[in-house]
Amino acid sequence: MITPITGFSKLNKEEKINWLLKTYLQNSEDSEKILKQYWNVNDEVQQLHEEFTENTLSNFYLPFGIAPNFLINGKLMAIPMTTEESSVIAAASKAAKFWQTRGGFKVKVLNTTKNGQVHFIYNGDHNKLIKFFHASKETLLDSVSTITKNMRKRGGGVLDIELLDKTEMLNGYFQLHCTFETKDSMGANFINSCLEKFADTLKDEAVKFQDFNAEEKHLEVIMSILSNYVPECLVRVEVSCPVSELYDDKQISNEGFAEKFLTAIRIAEVEPYRAVTHNKGIMNGIDAVVLATGNDFRAIEAGIHAFACKDGSYTSLTHASIENNVFKFWMEVPLALGTVGGLTNLHPLVKVASEILQKPSARELMEIVAVAGLAQNFAAVKSLVTNGIQQGHMKMHLMNILNAQKATPVEKEELIKYFTKHTVTHSNVAEQLERIRN
Ligand code: MEV
Repeated sequence: MITPITGFSKLNKEEKINWLLKTYLQNSEDSEKILKQYWNVNDEVQQLHEEFTENTLSNFYLPFGIAPNFLINGKLMAIPMTTEESSVIAAASKAAKFWQTRGGFKVKVLNTTKNGQVHFIYNGDHNKLIKFFHASKETLLDSVSTITKNMRKRGGGVLDIELLDKTEMLNGYFQLHCTFETKDSMGANFINSCLEKFADTLKDEAVKFQDFNAEEKHLEVIMSILSNYVPECLVRVEVSCPVSELYDDKQISNEGFAEKFLTAIRIAEVEPYRAVTHNKGIMNGIDAVVLATGNDFRAIEAGIHAFACKDGSYTSLTHASIENNVFKFWMEVPLALGTVGGLTNLHPLVKVASEILQKPSARELMEIVAVAGLAQNFAAVKSLVTNGIQQGHMKMHLMNILNAQKATPVEKEELIKYFTKHTVTHSNVAEQLERIRN
């Protein structure tokens, strides 16, 4: 029987592995070997990775790839992408090449405001609270001056604090809704530190406010935290070209392709089942760049999906039109990203990614990430409305199937050649492997 362990975090790495081997892995030598095989040969690098988080036993690799030929606002860029999914990077590269000869991606940051809230409960007179807020606003802002000093030097800081009455949603529920500019940092720690200070100041000032009665003086702060919903930290990306130049395959006319593409986008706009998968394809591109550049992909995912249902039902993030025989395809997405601080200064591969991207500012990174999302969606929808997704995907997936079947280099070579002319499916690959092996 397994018993709970106390003081696990105090054990060193070897001790933790030994406990795991004994408790869950039946002392498997293979598991031990694999865990240790993934340690970095350089002890310093290994330690750096271990210290990113807690109870680290090993490193978990993901491929770090590159999609070249992205023409972004007239500048040719290669985009680093971290993903485990086959065909994502190939699709991005294909879309990049396609649009590179059709004017490229036009992208613009619309705004960069981030936000956070002090959530509190106050059951007293609403007018007194409004009066208190106006009387205390300067003190609230002054109270974070030490925290915001460096950010202010970089042109950022607290933009505003508003008092919001949410009592129609929940009894006694009010908020300090605070907005921030965090320049090149994602700013999570900065925002949370400011919010916690605002909360303390709010409580202290309430106790001193003369108009409040004894109960009103003790407004109850529930929590203070940034929001990952950032609809005012928005970037817009677009591609366009004459319909006559849109398609590069003779199976379907350019006009037919454009109309079918538009209908596919309309379906994603009106049908949440499709919209989720459609947006998942966009996130294939977005997450891969967010990860490669050391940003928080969970925050980005949460924020983007919330944005996708901001009007009450979940819908497509991308849109398309044909006007005057010009095909236009665009997307607006919220992206709170950083290029300084956090993992961006620590992870050696993130530093390489930043150099590949010519050390972008946070605004430039917003643009690049949005481009990767739109490119990915274009490639996916283009495949879906023409040959279907499986043909290209399975071709890219062939190597994974061969590896899973433990194909030798010679077998791989032969089957890669064979499957240039045949359909890749799991059973076809197994059948062909058996044929060669016999
Ligand atoms: C697969 O990872 C992503 C797609 O399903 C996206 C889409 O359907 O648009 C191909």
